[in-house]
Amino acid sequence: MGAVRAGAALPAALTSAFAALPHDMAATARGAVQDIAYRTMRRLGTVDWLIKQRVSKAPPPPVTNLLACALALLVDDEAHAAYTPFTVVDQAVRAIGARRDVAFAKGLVNAVLRGFLRERESALAAAQANEVARWNYPQWWIDAVRRAWPDRWQAILEAGNTQGPLTLRVNARRTSVADYLQRLGEENIAATPIGEHAVRLAAPLPVDRIPGFMAGDVSVQDAGAQIAAQIMDVRDGMRVLDACAAPGGKSGHLLELADIDLIALESDATRAARIGENFERLGFSADQAEDDAQHPAWHARVVIGDAGAPASWFEGELFDRILADVPCSASGIVRRHPDIRWLRRQSDIEALVQEQRRIVDALWALVKPGGELLYVTCSIFPEEGEAQASWFESTHADAVRLDAPGQLLPAADGAPAGGPDYGAASVARPDADVQHDARPVPDRTADHDGFFYARFQKR
Ligand SMILES: C[S@@+](CC[C@H](N)C(=O)[O-])C[C@H]1O[C@@H](n2cnc3c(N)ncnc32)[C@H](O)[C@@H]1O
Repeated sequence: MGAVRAGAALPAALTSAFAALPHDMAATARGAVQDIAYRTMRRLGTVDWLIKQRVSKAPPPPVTNLLACALALLVDDEAHAAYTPFTVVDQAVRAIGARRDVAFAKGLVNAVLRGFLRERESALAAAQANEVARWNYPQWWIDAVRRAWPDRWQAILEAGNTQGPLTLRVNARRTSVADYLQRLGEENIAATPIGEHAVRLAAPLPVDRIPGFMAGDVSVQDAGAQIAAQIMDVRDGMRVLDACAAPGGKSGHLLELADIDLIALESDATRAARIGENFERLGFSADQAEDDAQHPAWHARVVIGDAGAPASWFEGELFDRILADVPCSASGIVRRHPDIRWLRRQSDIEALVQEQRRIVDALWALVKPGGELLYVTCSIFPEEGEAQASWFESTHADAVRLDAPGQLLPAADGAPAGGPDYGAASVARPDADVQHDARPVPDRTADHDGFFYARFQKR
């Protein structure tokens, strides 16, 4: 908690915290720590506001953070099933008592938590008047979403506070959605089809318990993210660049769809290693190609380099397709990464906009005449979406904008994030009724994160 408040991403903070724990600590205890940390990120606005109301002088950070975690379990009706209030208070008081440096705050922790439980309804009602406490996002983020999506901003913020489903991508080289659903049925795992290759599990499962995951029959990928490879229309023999590729989700999907010659480019060497691991699991590693008696028609390479500076890695042969899944605010995937909203600063958006422009500008020169570039972000901020697509179209005379979903707002259980019914999915343009003709997007029952898609063909 303290590490995230100091700017670390939650997964990295948890990895460091777990490394400091005893090795024999049960996996279930680690699971519980992770669950509490994620719940706290989704309720941080409320719990920080409650702490301020109840404590006149700010306690030391470990005490505030422990109070935040405990309150996050007490404010949430749904958390009650897993964590009873009595246990939460008891464990919180014991935890603080066990730390010599802050044991003096035992009484304070006890008083704050019990006081909250006594006045829970009225305290939560009072929190509604404060926007950060009500929505659990920083004020600038709430204002930005309201400005961009005036008729559905509340639904978008709410969708970001839910826990995303576990969605799988079925490997089209190995099996079909229908066959995989049957396989799940045989193992009593409930699931529904939600896209051309997408299957949503009714309840989350660790990856090692997902049938066929280790063998590469399926991958974990949100239904909204699966649209990228689907609309790129890759065909056998094409030369394809995935310019911002780690951890390789969309690269893997592209290789599953056609025998292409793919370069998966990534600037971060540590993250690039994960592309290799994914290719290995799916059967697309260089070794697997060499071992194959019949030389495979696909070809896949991981290259480390800056997409915005091709001189250091480009070998001279233009591409039929380029996927520019550029670095962005990640504001469309906050339900899976609830820490992002607290880590981002408003000033990050303009810096990201400039970086996105630098990257697509450089990549456009590498597209063959008649070839296509797909611009993708997992953002819901129009500055990174429609405004970028319009900028690109107006500054590149040789670019023709093709059909693509445009803005996909996050939606849960087939309910688009408010606003008019856009048919195939919650596809929308900011402050306009127009939308691009939808290509294959998740069907009406889809449950997906927020993305932006724009597709350009070179004249
Ligand atoms: C949105 S993620 C890509 C997700 C990936 N396409 C997938 O589906 O699994 C963006 C990636 O771009 C990388 N990146 C950021 N700046 C880059 C640059 N200038 N050149 C290449 N990669 C970059 C980041 O490290 C990050 O791994």
